[in-house]
Parts: sequence; C-alpha cells; structure tokens
Amino acid sequence: MTEVCIIYDKVRFEEKALYDKATDKGLKAQLVDAKSITVGTDSKRADFALGDVIMQRSVSHYRGLYLTACLEFLDYPVINRFQVAETCGNKLVTSLVLAKNHIPTPKTKFAFSPEAAMEVIRKQGLPLVLKPIVGSWGRGVFPLRDEETANMIIEMREENDSPLSRIYYVQEMIDRPPRDIRCIVAGDQVITAIYRYSAETEWRTNVARGGKAELAPLTKELEDMALRAASAVGGGILGVDLMEDKVKGLVVHEVNNTVEFRGAATVSTTDIPGAMIDYAVSLVRK
Ligand SMILES: Nc1ncnc2c1ncn2[C@@H]1O[C@H](COP(=O)(O)OP(=O)(O)O)[C@@H](O)[C@H]1O
Ligand SMILES: [Mg+2]
Repeated sequence: MTEVCIIYDKVRFEEKALYDKATDKGLKAQLVDAKSITVGTDSKRADFALGDVIMQRSVSHYRGLYLTACLEFLDYPVINRFQVAETCGNKLVTSLVLAKNHIPTPKTKFAFSPEAAMEVIRKQGLPLVLKPIVGSWGRGVFPLRDEETANMIIEMREENDSPLSRIYYVQEMIDRPPRDIRCIVAGDQVITAIYRYSAETEWRTNVARGGKAELAPLTKELEDMALRAASAVGGGILGVDLMEDKVKGLVVHEVNNTVEFRGAATVSTTDIPGAMIDYAVSLVRK
C-alpha cells in the first residue's frame, strides 16, 4: 500500500486536509514534524520510515528547503523538489526564470545598493512596488507612491540585519482590478482557479491579509499560462499567481512553492487536497 508522508513544522488546515484525504483514499499516511528529523552524510533511506513519497509542507521556507535537500539525498521523491523550492522561494530568481521562458510578468528591476535602488525608482517613475526577495503573505510588499516614502523604506531595508534585505526588487505597479488570480497546479493539471479580492483597507490581495476568495473561470489562456509558469520553475504542486493588467492582460507575478488552499477550498468545486494526493501517488516509482 502506498504511504504518503506529510512533513510539517506547524499543522495548518492544509496539512490536516492532505492527511485526511490520503487516509480517505485508503492510503497509508503520516504527519511528521520537520523539527524532529536529523540526517547525516552517512544516512541511508533504510534508516528512515518516511513512506513512498514526501509532501514537504514546512511553513519555514529555509527549514523546508534544506530538509528537502537532505531527503533527496536519501532518494525520497519530494514535492516539491529542492530546485523548484529554491526557485519559487526567491522572487528575484522566479522573475528571471519567468522572463527567460517568455512568460508575461511585471517589468521588474533589481538593484544591489540603496543608491542604485533610488536611481531605478527615479528612472522608472512612481508608483512602483518594492518587495523582499524572500517572503510570503504579502509581508514587506510595499506600494511606493512618493519618493520620500520610498527613500525611507530603502533606508530601513539597508539597516536590516538580513543580507537579503539589501537586495532591491522594484516592480512596476500593475493597474489591475482589486483582485488577483491564484491557480493551483499539480503536475500538468490546473486544479482550481480563484480570484482573491483585497480587504477593504488593504491593497494586497493575500488571503493572509483578509483577502476574499471567489471562484474564477478557468479560461484556456489562464490555464495555458499557469501550466507554462509551473513548468518553467520545474513543476510539482504549485500556486501560480497572476494579475490582470488593464493593458497587457494576464501577467504572472509569483509561483508559490508550499501552496496554501484554505481560502480556495471554501469556494472551489474541485477536491483540491484529493488532486494533490493523486499527484503525489503518481510520483511513486512502480
Ligand atoms: N506589481 C504589482 N502591482 C500591483 N499589485 C501587486 C504587485 N505585486 C504585488 N501586488 C499585490 O501584493 C500582493 C503580494 O505580493 P506578492 O508578490 O504575491 O508577495 P507575497 O509572496 O508576499 O504574496 C499580491 O497578491 C498583489 O495583490
Ligand atoms: Mg503572493
């Protein structure tokens, strides 16, 4: 019997839903705390009992990423693969991969000093969006609307201890409706597409910021673009986020590696965790 291992560092709605769905399907399933696993250069897969396929669901990006590297060393199939997690966990790398693969994406500039960042801001003209290159839930994603505030934010970023904080990711502000689109992809299938409407006093549309989910029609264009973006980063179970630019049409702004689906599950007509489990099982070597 196939056994699915769900690795967590915090059990959320999603990890419970995946576990329940796997057992509903008659599979063996286990929830394993990432914080309890130790791996060494002398470790063998036989030293562990982590099932046939691993779903890496750690909330901490770096914990999940480096544990995945260790699990792949042991020859476990892991969703998502290390290389995919590394690309998606970094907005700068993701933007480069999307552009390289000719996937429409917001025009973005990268700068490596506060002076160069301000120069980009003056040249591009406001409004712009400044983002941390690693992060999620909309944290630290700033709409820049005037030069004085932009200056202050860059000053704050420069004083931050994290070296990543001093890499500047400056993106055109997309003229969009007060929503974006989240496509959840598993392998070569788009499981569901939802709109996320931003909360009343919020510009960001993240569900974690009070954004409200609504079912979105999965047009051929949306499906194609989501699958192309997923494939460009290396494939797996992914959340492809798009915005509707009033002039350019659909643009992909990020691809999420450990996709949350609590909001999507409340409005979707498809069985999201079920499709994810089916995909995980399909990876088990026959
Ligand atoms: N270039 C942009 N133009 C307009 N809105 C944006 C832009 N970039 C991000 N946003 C808004 O901010 C939210 C968070 O940005 P995102 O890049 O997805 O970061 P995170 O990984 O923290 O979710 C998006 O879901 C969207 O609503
Ligand atoms: Mg996002």
